[in-house]
Amino acid sequence: MALKKYVIVTGAAGFIGSHLCDRLLADGHKVVGVDCFTDYYDRRIKEANLAPAIANHRFQFVEADLLAANLAPLLDGAGLIYHIAGQPGVRGSWGHQFDLYTRNNILATQRVLEAALACGRLPVVYAASSSAYGNLSTMPLHEDMAPAPVSPYGVTKLAAEHLCRLYAEVHDLPTIALRLFTVYGPRQRPDMAFQRFLTAQRRDQEITIYGDGTQTRDFTYVGDVVRAFLLAGAASQVRSSAGMVFNVAGGSRVTVNDVLAQIGHITGHRPHVRYLPAQPGDVRDTWADTVRAEAVLGFSASMPLADGLAEQWRHIVGNEV
Ligand code: NAD
Ligand code: UGA
Repeated sequence: MALKKYVIVTGAAGFIGSHLCDRLLADGHKVVGVDCFTDYYDRRIKEANLAPAIANHRFQFVEADLLAANLAPLLDGAGLIYHIAGQPGVRGSWGHQFDLYTRNNILATQRVLEAALACGRLPVVYAASSSAYGNLSTMPLHEDMAPAPVSPYGVTKLAAEHLCRLYAEVHDLPTIALRLFTVYGPRQRPDMAFQRFLTAQRRDQEITIYGDGTQTRDFTYVGDVVRAFLLAGAASQVRSSAGMVFNVAGGSRVTVNDVLAQIGHITGHRPHVRYLPAQPGDVRDTWADTVRAEAVLGFSASMPLADGLAEQWRHIVGNEV
């Protein structure tokens, strides 16, 4: 049932945020999307992500930086915040870029939480990251394991996740953090593996693999991620699970080399691959224990990897300019 109050989506022009907006609008909600179009990748890609939502009369877009905007009037009349905005990308988070990660992941989240508190304890569902875990020796990764991120990005995502828990515990703010595991599908960011691999295939270019390709990921289709957000954001859920962290993963853990084989099949020709050294900050493996999300949120992923990859390929082929 659509909420009378509107729903806020931060990071609305990004990969995950734009899909969430589309689904909320399709379900009849009124949505306010906020994004400042960071220059991490081409603004035109983000504008294209937003286009379906912009065409809907129940959508309002606010171009604003969460660190600069006056959030109080923006949140007035809202019933829920999906806080998706952030500075993503594991491998680029070293060196001087760390400033951006601190700003858009930690400081922006703290500002959103303060504003949510001041606005009558508005519930917040946060896009946390599997990168919080790092290279733990036990698999699958369970939410109660002690996190030990191996990238500066992971450190900032974990810090923001802790802020969400802290505001729930100390200030009674209803927050939930979803640790998303490598999300893929149409509109995937241009720096991410599948988008790079499929685009290279389309242009008959070489694909670069970091490491020997035996690293694994529990890849998660964006439609499944959106469903997890909706379940977590349900009014009774976000209050009864306040302060909790959930793994949200696809249940199709594979090696990067397995993905290449599937890409060859989907695109109809074998990829030309070059292997480079593994990148600092990349975890070796991810594999989620999803029992908590199943038991508490009623979430389980449904998109098989081969079908999701084919969807992403069709989107790339169908949106060439
Ligand atoms: P994305 O870069 O496509 O989207 C993020 C959006 O946030 C961008 O459009 C950017 O302009 C906006 N933004 C950043 N800082 C902002 C600020 N200060 N004010 C307003 N807008 C701001 O990235 P994505 O892949 O869609 O990821 C979305 C979120 O999910 C991020 O927080 C990321 O850390 C998290 N996450 C992503 C994945 C994944 O696999 N894509 C996995 C785990 C967690
Ligand atoms: C992804 C997102 O980029 C992060 O924002 C997110 O927080 C993280 O998932 C998460 O799960 O929390 P990553 O797993 O590195 O990070 O996702 P991809 O960029 O799709 O990379 C997957 C694997 O492919 C990695 O091992 C990477 O090294 C490899 N890769 C990537 C290549 O071999 N070549 C490339 O050109 C790109």
